[in-house]
This record gives sequence, C-alpha cells and structure tokens, in this order.
Amino acid sequence: MTEVTDPHAAALDPPPETRIVEVVFPEQLNHHGTLFGGEALSMMDRAAFVAVTRYCRSDAVTVAVHEVDFVAPVSHGEIVEVLARVVETGRTSMTVVVSMVSEELRSGKRRLCGKGRFVFVAFDGDGKPVPVPQLPE
Ligand SMILES: CC(C)(COP(=O)(O)OP(=O)(O)OC[C@H]1O[C@@H](n2cnc3c(N)ncnc32)[C@H](O)[C@@H]1OP(=O)(O)O)[C@@H](O)C(=O)NCCC(=O)NCCS
Repeated sequence: MTEVTDPHAAALDPPPETRIVEVVFPEQLNHHGTLFGGEALSMMDRAAFVAVTRYCRSDAVTVAVHEVDFVAPVSHGEIVEVLARVVETGRTSMTVVVSMVSEELRSGKRRLCGKGRFVFVAFDGDGKPVPVPQLPE
C-alpha cells in the first residue's frame, strides 16, 4: 500500500531564515516607476521584526537603523525578496542584517538592491528592556 504523507507537514518546520516575498505593484512605486524607498524600508523593517521575534519570542521594537543602502532599483512587476538574519546580540538588543533582492519574473535573474542593519530591543509588559538569548560567540 502507498504511504500517504501530508503535503503540508513541511510548512510547520521552523524556517532557517526569515524571507518576505512580494511582487511590486503600482501603489508601491515612486514617480520614476520603481519601488519607493519608504516601501522598501517598511519591508526591511517588517522582515527584521519577524526575524528578531522568532529569535527572542518577546515583544521587540526597532531602536535604530544603520547603514541602509539602496544600490539598485526594483522595477514594477519584479519579485522583491527581503531576507533577515539576527547576527549580533547585546544584553537586550539584537542586530539584524537585512538584504533586499529583486528577481526578474521571466529570466529569474536576481540582484542585490538594498542592504542594512536594524537594531531591536526586547521588552516586557511594562515596556522595560529584557535580556535576550545570546548568540554563540
Ligand atoms: C526600546 C526602548 C524602550 C529602550 O529604552 P532605552 O531607555 O533606550 O533602554 P536602554 O538604554 O536600557 O537600552 C536598551 C538597549 O538598547 C540599545 N539601544 C538603545 N538605543 C539604541 C540605538 N540608538 N542604537 C543602538 N542600540 C540602542 C542599548 O544599547 C541597549 O542594548 P543592550 O541591552 O543590548 O546593551 C526605547 O528606546 C523606546 O521606546 N524607543 C522607541 C522605539 C520605537 O517606538 N520604535 C518604533 C519606531 S518609531
């Protein structure tokens, strides 16, 4: 008899890194017809937030955004993918490296369009910073 496996079971595995994937639609564009910088920053901050929340499982808030560079435009109708990874921890803070990549629909060609470092602080129910798990040295 053929063993029946649940095709959705793998979706419950913890993902190795945080990725947000979207297609760029008209309401996200600037007047040049490319992705508006504020939209890009919002996607990067959201991806970073999900990465730190998965990491510390506490409430967390953005305290600083460092070294954000937009190195190439993302065009209308392209796929945009944002990857976020916690790379450094302090006592209550976490630093996330965020990369934004565009992908052409037909060719699949990918290129780095944006990058940055986002700092978050974990806090408790009283809004006080709380310790986070430490990354191995
Ligand atoms: C998060 C918040 C409660 C922390 O309060 P705080 O008085 O700065 O707390 P602390 O001074 O104890 O700092 C807590 C940690 O944040 C870090 N931190 C604070 N400001 C920082 C900054 N600008 N850049 C990098 N790290 C920062 C500190 O170094 C410390 O890290 P550590 O515990 O790992 O050593 C407070 O800054 C806040 O509410 N900020 C507004 C956040 C917000 O609303 N963000 C949404 C975007 S507007």
